[in-house]
Amino acid sequence: MGEKRFRAKEATWHRIVAPVVHMLCTMRDTVDRISTPLAVDPTRLHALLERERTHCLSAHPACAALAARCQAHFPFGVPLHWMRDWPTPVSLFLRTAQGAHVQCADGVDYADFCLGDTGAMFGHAPAPVVAAVAAQAAQGFTGMLPHEISAPVGELLADRFGLPYWQLAMTASDANRFVLRWVRALSGRPQVLVFDGCYHGAVDDTLVDRDPITGASVRRPSVLGAVHNHPAFTRVVPFNDLQALEDALRDGQVAALLAEPALTNFGLVPPQPGFWEAAQALCQRHGTLFVLDETHTLSTGVGGWARTHGLQPDIWVAGKAVAGGVPCAVYGMSADVAARLQAAKRQAPQGHSGIGTTLTANALALAALAAALQHLHTPDTYAAMQRAADMLQAGLNERLHARALPWTLTRLGARMELQFLPDPPRNADEVRAHAQPALQASLHLFLLNRGVLLTPFHGMMLCAPTTTDADVARLLQAFDAWLAALFD
Ligand SMILES: Cc1ncc(COP(=O)(O)O)c(C=O)c1O
Repeated sequence: MGEKRFRAKEATWHRIVAPVVHMLCTMRDTVDRISTPLAVDPTRLHALLERERTHCLSAHPACAALAARCQAHFPFGVPLHWMRDWPTPVSLFLRTAQGAHVQCADGVDYADFCLGDTGAMFGHAPAPVVAAVAAQAAQGFTGMLPHEISAPVGELLADRFGLPYWQLAMTASDANRFVLRWVRALSGRPQVLVFDGCYHGAVDDTLVDRDPITGASVRRPSVLGAVHNHPAFTRVVPFNDLQALEDALRDGQVAALLAEPALTNFGLVPPQPGFWEAAQALCQRHGTLFVLDETHTLSTGVGGWARTHGLQPDIWVAGKAVAGGVPCAVYGMSADVAARLQAAKRQAPQGHSGIGTTLTANALALAALAAALQHLHTPDTYAAMQRAADMLQAGLNERLHARALPWTLTRLGARMELQFLPDPPRNADEVRAHAQPALQASLHLFLLNRGVLLTPFHGMMLCAPTTTDADVARLLQAFDAWLAALFD
């Protein structure tokens, strides 16, 4: 066979045959691992949910009154529509949030294991951040000029997270969106690569699913008003799948792989041992930048997952808790990326870069970030979070074992996730195959009615440095009562 024909056949194999063979193997493997989920009597579950909804309504007359009032001026009755996605019959309207507790308008106290879906991971209103923001507020909020505190903030960022160069954004969504612009600009490559089941915020490029049959990128059906051309510009591969990753990188068109170290927004899917070392090597081989979004995995340890596990991404992103829950996000980069980024900007015509927002790096955000870097991103803080998480993990596992429940608790530092499958999942398809939304909702509502908040949409529980033994005991007691209501 001539060299040309051989090359053509090889290309066809890589483009068409290999992905299909790979997809069939993956599907069979997934089916093999899927055991029948534990059957919870649907009638009993439905009755439990109804009972808990009634209980919740009767315990929250003030919240119900506020909900009715808000309907007049806020679509969905809330200032952000997804605040209605909690499984409560009316929204809880918060009055205060301190440490690991929140109180609603009815004066009910909750041990908070949701912690603003990570924004309040270091506890609500941490004292050093409160003091720094209060002091800065009297000196001005925003000026679209770098505040003098920028210099120590840069030094602290480099020290805590290990990358030399930094830029700021207001939210993790912004940071990810800006990073995707930078990587395309500095590499000249059009594609980005993400994992199936990812969430990187309100970022059009990444609100994408993987068609399980064809492996193609498809727009997430729930996303409103989207026009982004996912098949043309975003590739999606299953998590923990090195072959699929290599296939997606091979043509040298991918500017960056944007990923969380573990999928934390689709259940909790941990990386297989050695996955990241091999994945990063593949990125390097194909000239693709490796971007880690550690917005949620900051819970792992000081400096996040990468620092804890000795991984060196080209770009590193964090938002939410990075400045103690005050709106602020950061992205760090290697010296090489910083040089290429500056060259890309210099070579572009004058005008809008499409990167940045007016209030970004404002003085309040910088003051909060400095205080958080100094006082919250510390070994002592993390030791306190891990201690509470150890206790919670041990208590939950004891209960799962005592009843021989085929469910698993997956832990990532101070956060853990109860998943209704026997082993930690390896990819998004395994999470999909075990989804039990009614069971999940019943757990949330049952615990909420007993003074414990979990993260909505999934079974995530996060411990703050201020989470006490009594908070953990409250959760475990409520969990016992939920299991009894389901099975006894
Ligand atoms: C990993 C990750 N990145 C980015 C974001 C977006 O954060 P924000 O909504 O604060 O912009 C989220 C939100 O849940 C997230 O989990």
